[in-house]
Amino acid sequence: MLIVIESLLTKDEVAAMRARLSQSGWLDGADTAGTRSIAVKDNLQLPRTVPVAKELGEVILRKLGNHPEFVSASLAEKIWPPVFNCYRDGGHYGTHSDAALMRLPEAGMTLRSDLSATLFLTEPDEYDGGELLAETPFGAQAVKLEAGDMVLYPSSSLHQVTPVTRGARICAITWIQSAVPDMQARGLLYDLDCSIRALTPGRAKDDADIDRLIHVYHNLLRRWAQV
Ligand code: NI
Repeated sequence: MLIVIESLLTKDEVAAMRARLSQSGWLDGADTAGTRSIAVKDNLQLPRTVPVAKELGEVILRKLGNHPEFVSASLAEKIWPPVFNCYRDGGHYGTHSDAALMRLPEAGMTLRSDLSATLFLTEPDEYDGGELLAETPFGAQAVKLEAGDMVLYPSSSLHQVTPVTRGARICAITWIQSAVPDMQARGLLYDLDCSIRALTPGRAKDDADIDRLIHVYHNLLRRWAQV
């Protein structure tokens, strides 16, 4: 299931981030690819250690933590520090799957990638190509979102970024370990929570039916969460 988180960043926040990134030195992304994906990865990446990457990454993490849709859809337990990348001049990332276990020794972090996320920082009309193609049970889905929007997709899916033939595609990407690793269970919880949130505003604060749905939600979460 692909889930779009709209307007994670406002257009002003995107512009501010773009201004900071424009002064940064991009490096060959192949430096951080695994031995197999190095053959299919052709993009530029901001080294994780540069201050601007850390600072902007923290802005994104704060936004994610406060976004009800993201919290509900991901049930995030751990989030990888966002990585900034740039595709231009035919840059692409051929079909690959993301590493299942990711280690960040300096933070003492090991993360199981349940969800992969791409936050678009350039508008679709700024570049040609650059679609994220993710294979789903219903066939490949192409994703190219407005600046400030984020897509979540299963890290277990095969995916690629098609060549950027005009302009530049700048994104931030990250990975999420969910409290509910099972994709189907997580999807059911998300559907239930969406309905609870949609129904709640029209009901009394002590509405018994809403309370029962919340009770069901939390007991399913209790059953499925692995923390
Ligand atoms: Ni990937």
